[in-house]
Amino acid sequence: MKFGFIGTNWITDRLIASGASIEDFEPYSVYSRTMDKAKAFGDKHALKYCTDDLEAFLNDPELEAVYIATPNYIHHEQAIKALQHNKHVLCEKPVTINSENLKAILNAEQDSDGLFLEAMKNLYAPSFEKVKFWLETIGPVRHINFHYHQYSSRYDKYKEGIIENAFKPELGNGAMMDIGVYTISPLIDLFGTPESIQVSHLKLSSGADAHGSILCQYEDKVANLNYSKIVDSHLPSEIIGERGIIIIDKISAPNVVQLLNRQNEVVETFESPNPPMSYELDHFINTVKANDKVASKVAFKHETSIQMMQMIDTLKTMQALRF
Ligand SMILES: NC(=O)c1ccc[n+]([C@@H]2O[C@H](COP(=O)([O-])OP(=O)(O)OC[C@H]3O[C@@H](n4cnc5c(N)ncnc54)[C@H](OP(=O)(O)O)[C@@H]3O)[C@@H](O)[C@H]2O)c1
Repeated sequence: MKFGFIGTNWITDRLIASGASIEDFEPYSVYSRTMDKAKAFGDKHALKYCTDDLEAFLNDPELEAVYIATPNYIHHEQAIKALQHNKHVLCEKPVTINSENLKAILNAEQDSDGLFLEAMKNLYAPSFEKVKFWLETIGPVRHINFHYHQYSSRYDKYKEGIIENAFKPELGNGAMMDIGVYTISPLIDLFGTPESIQVSHLKLSSGADAHGSILCQYEDKVANLNYSKIVDSHLPSEIIGERGIIIIDKISAPNVVQLLNRQNEVVETFESPNPPMSYELDHFINTVKANDKVASKVAFKHETSIQMMQMIDTLKTMQALRF
């Protein structure tokens, strides 16, 4: 499948590297806002076509699928354009900045020959499947602790007075959108939308949230989601049931997961063998090849994306975030 890339930062390099062992993945073209960047990126990855003209990029009949890795605020505009050109779209997380924009994407997908997937890589890891499988063993589940703290490489610059995209709320960025979504999405995928939520956060002077904690109430369980762009943490994530505990090393990219009994003894360990982004890519390609539009909605977890964006709408209002 011939892929074109929108967005030329390191995450696109990583996706291309992750696809190295996937037979049907063919890096093919790139669109950048500037020709210099398009050429530099194209040379680095030996791409056949480089352009700074989005219309020309999408009009290319050879192009089959588009990977979007641009700031969150512009995902929906680019995704809809690509779907209108009947391209398949793999779009970085979070899929959009609000549920209304996501609805517009899914409507465009209905009218297109293309399929759409939010690249929420943690949901497609085999280790995450294993976690799902173990839930019954530890149940009933009473508590979920999902953590993702990552001191941003752009925070040092922020402290020097240089505000990079990562801390610009007008681009749909900030801790909840960049980091927190990795805790919200698996919670919803596993347990659905909470009945009620509370949120606490720290905001920077740029208006971006930098650190946060969401307390989620379900009828029979409680979840605590913690995320940050200004501190690191060594804590793993865990799902706690009456009969055992599941430990997840990294909720943004589950790799090593463990099943523990109530005595805290390890009963089983599972490890995903391949690079984290390779699973979403493989899943995307195989689902597109299966050519079943009805089944693809389920396979691509559209319902999880919708519920996540609806929860983000609420959290945005609660925190008076500016995007
Ligand atoms: N899956 C993961 O592990 C992972 C990791 C990091 C980020 N992400 C996601 O990937 C996406 C990109 O994140 P990032 O940190 O790479 O973003 P970024 O550096 O701010 O922008 C990515 C690319 O988008 C283009 N761009 C920059 N500013 C833009 C603007 N104002 N309007 C339109 N295009 C712009 C640039 O490409 P050109 O200059 O070539 O046009 C840039 O290389 C986000 O959705 C983020 O959440 C995912």
